[in-house]
Amino acid sequence: MLKATNIHKSYDDLHVLKGVDIEVNKGELISIIGKSGSGKSTLLHILGSLDIPDQGQVFINDQNIFDKKEKDLSTFRNKHIGFVFQFHHLLAEFDALENVKIPGLIQKTDATALDKKAKELLDYLGLKDRMDHKPGQLSGGEQQRVAIARALINDPQIIFADEPTGNLDKSTSDELHQLFFQLKKDFNQTFVLVTHNMELANLSDRTLEMVDGNIKI
Ligand SMILES: Nc1ncnc2c1ncn2[C@@H]1O[C@H](COP(=O)(O)OP(=O)(O)OP(=O)(O)O)[C@@H](O)[C@H]1O
Ligand SMILES: [Mg+2]
Repeated sequence: MLKATNIHKSYDDLHVLKGVDIEVNKGELISIIGKSGSGKSTLLHILGSLDIPDQGQVFINDQNIFDKKEKDLSTFRNKHIGFVFQFHHLLAEFDALENVKIPGLIQKTDATALDKKAKELLDYLGLKDRMDHKPGQLSGGEQQRVAIARALINDPQIIFADEPTGNLDKSTSDELHQLFFQLKKDFNQTFVLVTHNMELANLSDRTLEMVDGNIKI
């Protein structure tokens, strides 16, 4: 599903990633842990094609993502990769349903099918009665569930989440963690999660620790 080899990334003379290798199988839920500043977000952004490595390659379903032209890469990213961040990054002017549909609109999905799919997802995520709420009218946990629905709308190959529950209280975090496992079970969804939450890490299929610019073996 995902294979990255020898990923290097520096910011000026700060060598953040020093030859990271990682493989993720379909349906796996992987946690990446490590101290603040150890390069977790940097790695996640590169794996998700949001940032370019100085060296190394990333394959998603056998496609070398950095071999693609910028336009093809953004199409690929929109179609095959889902993101959930610590702060939801929902658009404040649009309601939950509209926010969920945006990646599908970019993909030019048929409007009726897209509307149906977005509603089904929001329903599945327990937000049936919140579809017409704007982000400011939703709780933190609800906002993250909308962000998860948005990440799922194009049936991505893989979802990357960077501290998706870092901003939430414990019980809301626990609920969202359960949701990740439910999505894995129901849809064989593949996840790479960056987290400081050891409970979540311990429940994952594998936990990888970033230490000194690399994944600790
Ligand atoms: N755009 C940038 N320009 C310069 N330095 C950067 C940039 N992005 C990250 N860094 C530096 O790279 C290092 C790794 O940052 P990164 O955000 O990947 O850490 P992290 O493991 O995600 O930390 P946290 O747990 O706090 O989120 C840090 O020292 C950070 O200051
Ligand atoms: Mg980070």
